Amino acid sequence: MTGGGTAGGEGPAGPGATGLSYAKATALAYDPFMWVITLGRYRRLVAAELDRLGLAGDEKALDLCCGTGIVAAEVARRLGPRGEVVAVDLSPAMLEAARRKLARLVRSGGPGGGNVGAHGEDHGEARLPRAEFIASDASDLPLRDGRFDLVTLFLGLHEVEPDRRLPVLQEVRRVLRPGGAGLVLDIGGRGPAWKMRVARWAITALEGPDAWTVTEPGVPSLLRSAGLEVEGVRPVFSGAFEFVRFRRPG
Ligand SMILES: C[S@@+](CC[C@H](N)C(=O)[O-])C[C@H]1O[C@@H](n2cnc3c(N)ncnc32)[C@H](O)[C@@H]1O
Repeated sequence: MTGGGTAGGEGPAGPGATGLSYAKATALAYDPFMWVITLGRYRRLVAAELDRLGLAGDEKALDLCCGTGIVAAEVARRLGPRGEVVAVDLSPAMLEAARRKLARLVRSGGPGGGNVGAHGEDHGEARLPRAEFIASDASDLPLRDGRFDLVTLFLGLHEVEPDRRLPVLQEVRRVLRPGGAGLVLDIGGRGPAWKMRVARWAITALEGPDAWTVTEPGVPSLLRSAGLEVEGVRPVFSGAFEFVRFRRPG
């Protein structure tokens, strides 16, 4: 689903009569939309894949193309106060939704209370990581070299213009520390032919023809071109999508 917009702009005006911008409406609709198209499985799928990483809890994590923060919140649940989550998205409306989601995690007590304030401030006593929210293009990150132990990029790469995908992954390599790990979820294109035809039709209808081009040459190949080592590929949703684990060579 396209979050759209640029760091400064909120996209075309939406239903003007309601005063709700297109970007805000998209951010509001995203979680229910994901719930419906995955039959409520998306958050659990994300959680299970993050569990496979076996995080220690003190990692500095970057969630790129964070959208409404589904992935960032799941990463935060797995980190302690020595950890850090930085969430980046082009769309301020999506970032605001992510900020609210992380703040709710704190209010609910999280996995044991927390220190992620509504504006990413540190409340001290807590057992959740610090969180920061940055409006930026993923291909030009205002973040220092080697800052992160982990980078996640779920369902974002196919939304990036085809000629900006490699620059995004080169930025991922730059901000990962040597030996740091990463996880991409995106269109895989490896399922049975008839399922792939249906998936291609649906994704093209929803996201436009450019989205599917991420399958050519495919995420693992793009990661290698960016100088990252692919460690494993796990197909999901009958191979229409895949998790790709990688590492920055040490
Ligand atoms: C389909 S959503 C995925 C959200 C989240 N990662 C998840 O798994 O639910 C894709 C997000 O990528 C963001 N996005 C698209 N192109 C981007 C870019 N070049 N830089 C940063 N964010 C981008 C959109 O604004 C949108 O919020």
